[in-house]
Order: sequence, then C-alpha cells, then structure tokens
Amino acid sequence: MTDTAHLTLQEREADLDAAQLKQLVGLVEYDADSDPFPVTGWDAIVFVSGNATQSAQYYQNVWGMELIAYSGPENGNRDHKSFVLKSGSIKFVINGAVDPGSPLVEHHRKHGDGVIDIALEVPDVDKCVARARSAGAVVVREPEDLCDEHGTVRIASIGTYGDTVHTLVDRSKYDGVHLPGYQPATSTLVRREGQPKRLFQALDHVVGNVELGKMDEWVTFYNKVMGFVNMAEFIGDDIATDYSALMSKVVANGNHRVKFPLNEPAEAKRKSQIDEYLEFYRGPGAQHLAVATGDILATVDALRANGVEFLDTPDSYYEDPELRARIGKVRVPVEELQSRGILVDRDEDGYLLQIFTKPLGDRPTVFFELIERHGSLGFGKGNFKALFEAIEREQDRRGNL
Ligand SMILES: [Fe+2]
Repeated sequence: MTDTAHLTLQEREADLDAAQLKQLVGLVEYDADSDPFPVTGWDAIVFVSGNATQSAQYYQNVWGMELIAYSGPENGNRDHKSFVLKSGSIKFVINGAVDPGSPLVEHHRKHGDGVIDIALEVPDVDKCVARARSAGAVVVREPEDLCDEHGTVRIASIGTYGDTVHTLVDRSKYDGVHLPGYQPATSTLVRREGQPKRLFQALDHVVGNVELGKMDEWVTFYNKVMGFVNMAEFIGDDIATDYSALMSKVVANGNHRVKFPLNEPAEAKRKSQIDEYLEFYRGPGAQHLAVATGDILATVDALRANGVEFLDTPDSYYEDPELRARIGKVRVPVEELQSRGILVDRDEDGYLLQIFTKPLGDRPTVFFELIERHGSLGFGKGNFKALFEAIEREQDRRGNL
C-alpha cells in the first residue's frame, strides 16, 4: 500500500491533493503496513501563551489564520482558555491559564511562550503506545476515549525532549470541529482586501533544540520509539560560523509529512544560538516551525505589511558569484528575492526558497520559517552559514553573543 494518496481529513478540507502536498512539503511513497508506529500526519501544534486571548488574535490578524473552535470558562473549562486556529491543513491551538493554579502557569513561568505539544494523527493509538512503551518511552497520558455527540476520539501522549509531548490522536470516528470539550467558534475579523485567502497551507517541519551531546539520543528515540527514518545529516563545519556552531540531524516519518530536525550546540568561540535558546527556554524545546506556502513572495509581502519582522540577509549573499552559480535558475529574478531577504538553496532534487522571522515572543526562543519547495527535500543546508551570521547579529544586539 502506498500512502501519499491517503490524505488526512484536515488536508482534504483544505482542498489540498497529493500532488500539491508533494510539492509543498516533499511527501514520499512508503508502506504503512510494515510501520510499527504509523503516523498519518500532523494533528495540531499546541502553544502555551501568557495571553492566549491576544495571541489568538495575533495569529488571525497577522498570520491569516482562521478561528474554528474554542474551549474556556464559558463552556466548562475553568482552568484555561484554548483557541483552535487553522490555516490550510494545519491547526494551531493556543492555550493560556485562567485559573492562577493552572499547570500552564508554571509551564509559562519556566519556558515563556512556546510549544507544549506536537500532536500527531495516527491510525492506531494503542499500537503506537504499546510500541513506545516497549521501546522505553514515557507514556504521559494513557490511551483513552473522549466522546461527545460528534463521536469518539482515541487519544494518548508520550514524552519527548524537555517538557514537550507528542499527543497521538485517532479522530477517524469523530466529526466534531476539534476535540470533545471544544465548541465551534468564529471571529468578527474581516480580512483585508487583496490579502491572500491564506498565507500558508501546511506545516513542513518542526525543529527541536536539545542539549550538547543529546542530539544522537533523540535521533535514536525517534528511530526506535516512533520508527522515523534519518534524512539529511549536517555536522560541524557545514553550519559553523566563527562564533557559533551547531550540529543537526533530521528524522522523518515514513511518508515525510512529519519532519523533525534536531539541533544541539557545537563547540565554538562564543555562545551558540542553540545555547541561547536552551538558556532562555530553560531547557530543550521546539525552536522553529516551518510553514509551507506556494507563493513565498506574496506571503512575505503580506506578513511584512502586517508588521512581521524577518532576519535580514546581507546583500553580499545575493551578490556572491558562487551562490548565483550554485542556485541556477529559480522561478523569479534573484533581485525579487534580494528585495525581500528570501534565501534560496539547491540540491540534486531541486530548489527551495526560505526565510526566517525574528523570535515571536519576548524570549529569544521560538520563531517561524516560511518555505516554498520546488523539488528539494532539504532544509536549506547551503543557507545555514548566511542565516547564522544574520542570527548572530541579532544575538549580539541582545547582548547574548
Ligand atoms: Fe527549518
């Protein structure tokens, strides 16, 4: 059985087909029947926010997401507010404490705004949990059924790096808008005229930052516990600058919908950007979310107009003859990329366009990447040096280099 033809409900609802997804996020064919921990795709990315009410408005106003569901004191959840937002096939859930005794308060005190849960859709929760347990993973939440008038969701959670978890969700017997306990919600927001219907269509990858010496342990975790395969591998000099360096390895589920690059700091003259993250997040956690768009130029223009700040790319990057030779012909003139600070990378399969935001919260931790793939299944390895030099200029301005 090949898997790419099998779309998740969220993907079908977003009017995406297999060919579009293959282009957007680089899907590959694979045999799900022989997978000990089959993962269908992303379910949702769950954030903790110091003010979920305002963060949910930010993601709607600025990032063009759509409010679809809500849980809070008005419908029996006295602990916290939870806003479910959607863009294309991906859902963000923004949680913020209402009760001062909520566990979210302590999570936020320690980590600040960040990702608490990278939830995945799976066809068989119990099979995955049994596999995870036998491979030594921590089961944070035992499998259980959540029911309401829309049906039943089977759900469980396993722990990953730091205080981050993977909730595993089988929603094949459920037709409600998110989960039992949530009610459908809409907002009065009116989209600005001329603004694209959505600014991104899918989630491409989520990067985890882990401590020095721990990267291989987490690669093994994803291999052994979740049956993920290793993708590209970049080590040492590839992504070192004079001051900061990191090591990075990438694991992916069978169909490559779910891709997790894992970073650890490497020895360098000064503090690495990964160390800065680990210090301010108080431990390992999700560093950046890469969202896929079919038109990165229009998306960047819209986001800039909405006030989003991106990392600057030096003009020297675009004027470098080596770069021009390496990237060859892309769909727009290089000047169009230069005026927006969009990076370009090419490998044997094709090319990709990408750009990174500055950190979205108060701490120098979580940020976003926009990615437009044209065949390349990579992550912008050729851009790492240019990118890190840009990150380091920002780190230096914060006094953390
Ligand atoms: Fe990335």
